[in-house]
Amino acid sequence: MLRGKDIKPASGKLGVLIVGLGAVSTTFIAGVEAIKKGIAEPIGSLTQMATIRLGKRTENRTPLINDFVPLSQLKDLEFFTWDIFEDNAYQAALKCGVLDKILIDNLKDELSAIKPHKAVFSNKYVKKLNGTYIKKADSKMEYAEQLMEDITAFKKEKNLERLVMIWLASTEVYIENTEVHSDLAKFEQGLKDNHESISPSMIYAYAALKSDIPFINGAPNLTVDMGAMRELAGKNHLPICGKDLKTGQTLMKTILAPGFKARMLGLNGWFSTNILGNRDGEVLDDPESFKTKEVSKLSVIDQILQPEKYPALYKDYYHKVRINYYPPRGDNKESWDNIDIFGWLGYPMQIKINFLCRDSILAAPVALDLVLFVDLAHRANMSGIQEWLSFYFKSPMAAPGLYAENDLFIQQTKLKNTLRYMMEEEIITHLGLDYYEEI
Ligand SMILES: NC(=O)c1ccc[n+]([C@@H]2O[C@H](COP(=O)([O-])OP(=O)(O)OC[C@H]3O[C@@H](n4cnc5c(N)ncnc54)[C@H](O)[C@@H]3O)[C@@H](O)[C@H]2O)c1
Repeated sequence: MLRGKDIKPASGKLGVLIVGLGAVSTTFIAGVEAIKKGIAEPIGSLTQMATIRLGKRTENRTPLINDFVPLSQLKDLEFFTWDIFEDNAYQAALKCGVLDKILIDNLKDELSAIKPHKAVFSNKYVKKLNGTYIKKADSKMEYAEQLMEDITAFKKEKNLERLVMIWLASTEVYIENTEVHSDLAKFEQGLKDNHESISPSMIYAYAALKSDIPFINGAPNLTVDMGAMRELAGKNHLPICGKDLKTGQTLMKTILAPGFKARMLGLNGWFSTNILGNRDGEVLDDPESFKTKEVSKLSVIDQILQPEKYPALYKDYYHKVRINYYPPRGDNKESWDNIDIFGWLGYPMQIKINFLCRDSILAAPVALDLVLFVDLAHRANMSGIQEWLSFYFKSPMAAPGLYAENDLFIQQTKLKNTLRYMMEEEIITHLGLDYYEEI
C-alpha cells in the first residue's frame, strides 16, 4: 500500500464504466451532470460533503475529505455504459421516473450523449427481462473479449488515464459459489466451456480485471465474491468490492441494530416488508432473483447482534424480509418494519417504521463515492477486497475466514481511519488520554 505523497495523483480523466443504464445509473449520471452545472448539491456523498477530523480535538483540523485525499474531480469523469435496451441516458432517465422531467430536460444534451453499448446478457440469469440490444458470441470467453475491446476503444477515444467498472445492472438469479469459481484457471476454462454457473456479471468483472480495471458490485450477485476473482485482482493489484449498495431498509437496520445491541436490548422479531414498482421490483418478483437479494438482506442483523454471544437477547429472533412488486409506486419504494424488542425483566416493546424512501436517490451518491474511493485505492496500490468500503454495502465482502462488518458506525470509523492512515495521519481511537493526563 502506498501512503501520503507516494499515492499516485488523480491526474487526467477517469473513465466510469457502468453496467446497466437503469434507475440507479441514470440518477447517478444525471446527478453528477447537475452538480457540475451548479444546479444541484451532492447530498448524501461523503467524498463531496463530509469532513474528517485530524489530530487532537484541540487542533481544530477538520478538512473536507475531498481536500484531504487526492480524489478525481467530477469534471474529470467520463461515463460509458452497457444495457440490454438501446435508450440513451436521457430517454432511460425519463422512463425510470426517479428525477423530475424539468431537471432531466435541463441536462438533455449531456444525457443524450451517453448511449449504451450492446450488453452481455442471457435471460437465464435475469428471468423477468428480455433484452433486445445484446452481443453475440460462441463462448463466454468471447463475450469477455468483446467487452475488453469496448473498453480499449473507449479509453483511447476519450484519452483516459484510468478506469473503474461498477455493476448497476439487474440482480441475477442466485448462483452458488462452486468449483468453477474457486480459482482463475478453472474459471477461465469455464468461460471457454460456457459453464452455466458463470453469469454475465462475472463476465463483465473478468473483463474489467483482465483490463487492469478495479470492479465494484452494486448488486447482490456473486460476481467478484469468489476465489477466481480474488486471485485475478491480487495478480493485477486491483481493488474489488461489493455486494449490493446499502440503501433504504437495510441502511435503517444497520443504524438501529447496533443501537439495540449497544444498550443490551433484546430482539424477538423483525418483520420487514417493501413495495416497489420499478424495473428492479419487477426483476425481484422472480423468486430466483429475490433469493439473491434475500440472502443479502437477511445476513445483516445476525452479524451485528451476535446471537451466539448474547443468547439471552438474540437467540431465536424471527427475521422476515418481503419485497412485493407494486407498479403504481414506481421508484418511490415504501417499506414497513415491525420490530419487537424487549427490555429490563423481559418487558416487550414495539417499534414501527414506515420509510417512504427513494431508493435511487439514496443509491446514487453511494455509487459516486465508491467510484472515487476505489480509484483512490487503485492509485494507492491497495489490491483485493476493500473492506474499508463496507460502509456502502448491504452484504460486504470479506476475506475468507473473516466475518463481514455490518455495523454502520464501525464501518464509518474504519473508512475514516483508513483515509487517515493512507495520508499518514494519526488513527483516531476516541480514547482522549491526553484529557485525563491534563487533569
Ligand atoms: N435502487 C437502489 O437503490 C438499489 C439499492 C441497492 C442495490 N441496487 C441494485 O442495483 C441494481 C440496479 O438497480 P436499479 O434500480 O437501477 O434497476 P433497474 O432495473 O432500473 O436498472 C438495471 C438496468 O440493468 C440492465 N441490465 C440487466 N442485465 C444487464 C446486463 N447483463 N448487461 C447490461 N445491462 C443489464 C437493465 O436493462 C436495466 O436497465 C439492481 O441489481 C439492484 O438490486 C439498487
